[in-house]
Amino acid sequence: MIHIPKSEYSRRRKALMAQMVPNSIAILPAAAVAIRNRDVEHVYRQDSDFQYLSGFPEPQAVIVLMPGREHGEYVLFCRERNAERELWDGLRAGQEGAIRDFGADDAFPITDIDDILPGLIEGRDRVYSAMGSNPEFDRHLMDWINVIRSKAHLGAQPPNEFVALDHLLHDMRLYKSAAEVKVMREAARISAQAHIRAMQASRAGLHEFSLEAELDYEFRKGGAKMPAYGSIVASGRNSCILHYQQNDAVLKDGDLVLIDAGCEIDCYASDITRTWPVNGKYSPEQKAIYELVLAAQEAAFAEIAPDKHWNQAHEATVRVITSGLVELGLLQGDVDELIAREAHKAFYMHRAGHWLGMDVHDVGEYKVGGEWRVLEVGMALTVEPGIYIAPDNQNVAKKWRGIGVRIEDDVVVTKTGCEILSHGVPKTVAEIEALMAAARTQAA
Ligand code: GLY
Ligand code: MN
Ligand code: MN
Repeated sequence: MIHIPKSEYSRRRKALMAQMVPNSIAILPAAAVAIRNRDVEHVYRQDSDFQYLSGFPEPQAVIVLMPGREHGEYVLFCRERNAERELWDGLRAGQEGAIRDFGADDAFPITDIDDILPGLIEGRDRVYSAMGSNPEFDRHLMDWINVIRSKAHLGAQPPNEFVALDHLLHDMRLYKSAAEVKVMREAARISAQAHIRAMQASRAGLHEFSLEAELDYEFRKGGAKMPAYGSIVASGRNSCILHYQQNDAVLKDGDLVLIDAGCEIDCYASDITRTWPVNGKYSPEQKAIYELVLAAQEAAFAEIAPDKHWNQAHEATVRVITSGLVELGLLQGDVDELIAREAHKAFYMHRAGHWLGMDVHDVGEYKVGGEWRVLEVGMALTVEPGIYIAPDNQNVAKKWRGIGVRIEDDVVVTKTGCEILSHGVPKTVAEIEALMAAARTQAA
């Protein structure tokens, strides 16, 4: 299994601590276990920031980073070993494991945190935390601070500054290391296999969820614990619903099916969309829209390189789509004027992409000082133009209505341009039709 090596977690902690002001402390909680219903839990997924700094997979844990602390800069609070609980729920690292296997300098039982953490915070000037994203943890933090304040008359020194950790941490997460790119490449490779399998299985009469099952099969077989987000399997007019997730309609002969799905490997997402004909052959209208979206995507790739800014790829897609829609008669008027009044938004209402990483819509600022961010080596993003012609759009000829096409790939910025991580899925009309035809011949 391809994963982030331990040495990288240590490097990240050091890099973060190097940016913290002297005499400060950072405190981050693990994700809480989410209840699905009564005593059934959702599959546990570690908080991305917590995972980024520790690789520690358990709930009920707190990371404490104290740059310059003599007795160790990295303290981990976590669950104690417990033979009875481990018999039911699985192994725990315990404090020994936290030190031996996860590089903590010091580890304490999570049940002792109220007694120990105020003492660690005391005397530090500034506290970094993810303020506002976890109200329950914010309350705990204030309780610990108040313990110190209540002892001020005895000489205890509570911190005076509370700073959001996001600014430092999320900027670090935006730049992917070689190890991160490797994991993301693997997530994209498995997801590409999943899309191919769904294309091969596509038949009229099946349900959308049958294709979702093909995706899930490849994800799990590839070692992914789960999809990076709820898979979208949208056939026919459902393809015009951007985040459709019902996935229970019957696939109809003559319709397209849009699949937006990607798996997660070691907490890194992939996010791929392909749109293909249920019966293996695009109609002339479907093909025209598909090839326009593909041309928009190609134009966007050409605008992704160091020194180009974030919005250039989006602007390229808007230009190609607007002029293409005019050529097809779906928009009327002068292309520049149509762009100026954002006429494309009736058909293309989302942006050309987003940052990609541990979160599918990853962290990181899109603007810096009011200006679009300039791309740099290691930034990962999606490129996903689309055209969606609403089934009830009375302004276009009937033959176009209900066609929805999105094509989405994952890229990382390189010195010379970008690497397409998800290149493993066929994309041209000819490639997709050939793959589907071959699958039908084999099945017959
Ligand atoms: N899968 C969600 C997105 O493409 O942004
Ligand atoms: Mn996306
Ligand atoms: Mn997507």
